[in-house]
Amino acid sequence: MALLELKGVSRHFGGVRAVDGLDLAVEPGQVFGLIGPNGSGKSTTVNLVAGLFPLTAGAIAFEGRSLEALPTHLRLQAGIARTFQNIRLFGQLSVWQNLWVAQNSPEDRARHGFLARWLGGQSGARDEILPLLEFSGLAHKRDELASNLSFGEQRRLELARAMATRPKLLLLDEPAAGMNSEEVGQLRERILSLRGRGVTILLVEHVMELVMGVTDRIAVLNFGQKIAEGTPAEIQADPAVRKAYLGGEAA
Ligand SMILES: Nc1ncnc2c1ncn2[C@@H]1O[C@H](COP(=O)(O)OP(=O)(O)O)[C@@H](O)[C@H]1O
Ligand SMILES: [Mg+2]
Repeated sequence: MALLELKGVSRHFGGVRAVDGLDLAVEPGQVFGLIGPNGSGKSTTVNLVAGLFPLTAGAIAFEGRSLEALPTHLRLQAGIARTFQNIRLFGQLSVWQNLWVAQNSPEDRARHGFLARWLGGQSGARDEILPLLEFSGLAHKRDELASNLSFGEQRRLELARAMATRPKLLLLDEPAAGMNSEEVGQLRERILSLRGRGVTILLVEHVMELVMGVTDRIAVLNFGQKIAEGTPAEIQADPAVRKAYLGGEAA
């Protein structure tokens, strides 16, 4: 059974068919790439899976169950985490605090008394946050405010924050945007490391070097519709993809 399955999914904004009759199946353990030109519906697809707004038509299932009735925070609890195309961190909280807040769901905070735990030294989460800090190369910045981090560090913190919720499915929306090639190389290692731990990943990305290097399978969108799907090698060789996505030129 697919971990994530989209069937005939559409989302229209007024007259714009941002996503139009999309079928997708992401198998457990896969890194699944979603690519396509600007405005082809990639972020909208991520937003629909995360539950930011309702579908116009179709259905999305996670672990075989419909997500329709689940608001965003319950999808997060069910194991779906995401990063944003434009970074959204708590700028006035430290690196460590950003991870702590992510790790402790609203329900947990209510149960244990958010302020009491917060003021009481935040001890419970310590063991799980340290490895995440190390994974992200942010251990030495743990007490720095998120707003003081460099762009690359903020991107790393965003990924760590999504991981702090212990997701089964990670939705990454252009995680390599604005990175230099060294940072893209490090991101590639982190994605492969997560894959090695069994995290399933839906990767929206423009940086082809990354997409082709980490994905098991790729779907290509154009005007909200899937125009191709296959292995990275199949996608690179597909004439329709080259025409739509690469402007008719070789990669
Ligand atoms: N919240 C929104 N309101 C109106 N139009 C939107 C909204 N989100 C996306 N769109 C439109 O839907 C289309 C697909 O956008 P998007 O999913 O962001 O594309 P991509 O991520 O592939 O660049 C675009 O034409 C965009 O302008
Ligand atoms: Mg986008």
